[in-house]
Amino acid sequence: MWKDKGMGFMLLHLQLVSFVFLRFVNSGSAGVTSAFVRTEWPSTDIPLDNEALAVPKGYNSPQQVHITQGDYDGKAVLITWVTAEAPGSNTVHYGKSDSNYEFTAEGTVTNYTFYNYMSGFIHHILVDGLEYDTKYFYKIGDGKSAREFWFRTPPEIGPDAPYTFGIIGDLGQTYNSLSTVEHYMRSEGQTVLFVGDLSYADRYNYNDVGVRWDTWGRFVERSTAYQPWIWSAGNHEIEYMPFMGETVPFKSYLHRYKTPFAASKSTNPLWYAIRRASAHIIVLSSYSPFVKYTPQWRWLVEELKSVDREKTPWLIVIMHVPIYNSNEAHFMEGESMRSVYERLFVHYKVDVVFAGHVHAYERSYRISNIHYNVSSGDPYPVPDKSAPVYITVGDGGNQEGLAGRFRDPQPDYSAFREASYGHSTLAIKNRTHAIYHWNRNDDGKKVATDSFTLYNQYWGNNRRRRKLKKNHLHKIITEVLTNGL
Ligand SMILES: [Fe+2]
Repeated sequence: MWKDKGMGFMLLHLQLVSFVFLRFVNSGSAGVTSAFVRTEWPSTDIPLDNEALAVPKGYNSPQQVHITQGDYDGKAVLITWVTAEAPGSNTVHYGKSDSNYEFTAEGTVTNYTFYNYMSGFIHHILVDGLEYDTKYFYKIGDGKSAREFWFRTPPEIGPDAPYTFGIIGDLGQTYNSLSTVEHYMRSEGQTVLFVGDLSYADRYNYNDVGVRWDTWGRFVERSTAYQPWIWSAGNHEIEYMPFMGETVPFKSYLHRYKTPFAASKSTNPLWYAIRRASAHIIVLSSYSPFVKYTPQWRWLVEELKSVDREKTPWLIVIMHVPIYNSNEAHFMEGESMRSVYERLFVHYKVDVVFAGHVHAYERSYRISNIHYNVSSGDPYPVPDKSAPVYITVGDGGNQEGLAGRFRDPQPDYSAFREASYGHSTLAIKNRTHAIYHWNRNDDGKKVATDSFTLYNQYWGNNRRRRKLKKNHLHKIITEVLTNGL
């Protein structure tokens, strides 16, 4: 009897395994490991006296200007800059025309020390009550040293609001980093989802740590002053350096890079959410407590419950450590977070999870491993239509170089992987479709990149799609009847 049961179970197991295998094979989804390895520039930081890191001209001129979303729904912007010599003006003048700044906003100014380094005066100003889909010009600084920039607010929250996000990670400040940012700036990207590891200043010691945060702020200003970068923290932001008396985690990062965490009822700037156009973006912290019952876990559970896919169909998670990674670098480091959060991602049908950390590019199929626990189940991910696509974009170009050793053979769940520098874009077209691209820093040559159409996990459902078509048809008929052909 037991023997028969055992045999039956074995047969069932074999059937399941071959079913899973055939699913991978039949979908024509054998993964690709690209042999292309980009070695355009050496992995060394841009020298301090290079123009790319230059201090803007003029006494106490605002520098390291960066903006991020300042509220939950995109009608506010947080503007940050640093003045080196004195606090100076703490006012933002802004308006819809560059010759007439109708409005002003005031903020706070702060500074901090790191070993014997003392930071400049860091200004944080919240500009709120903005109109959607509008270009605003802003001016900061005093007299002749004043500087002017602009940004565009996103369209109003809505299921079909088109919007293009860029995704950049592990950027650092080498010539490869510069190439990545310059390539990104030539894309259609309107806001950057940054997946952690900003300046790599922690690769330096003593006062040079602070100095390299300043140079990084000046280096990325070419983009961050004009469009929001949505920040998440990586291991290089921790800066636990007891040998120089610095033991407060994330000290430099939190002083310099504010996030609108309170707007999503988070109690910590390291994890929060925003809504922008048709997307609901959840930012997680790989290096803060995240297991069950911790503040981050409790916040995430509540935030996921509040997601309204009728208003923001696209549910995107960003974090630093990938939970699916087939590179030798940082292998299995995301497993602890996977065991806690993967079930939630599948249950709430997250569309895509972006991570960094591994200095290469990798994309997964829709797979999950939630059937596995330590006492039963096959410990191997299987195709799962409700699961997110996992994408690692840790290829910004920092001084640690590329992670060129992928595990062999390529796991079935891994769709594409390549150790080159680059960035991604996600162009949301409407509630059902988005076009995803990975862009290698290809110095102008026509080279193949990874791209595909992402179908929305909520509106891709057949029943909803049929309802959508019916409503659309109904709208057209009503318009024709009202206005004629
Ligand atoms: Fe990292």
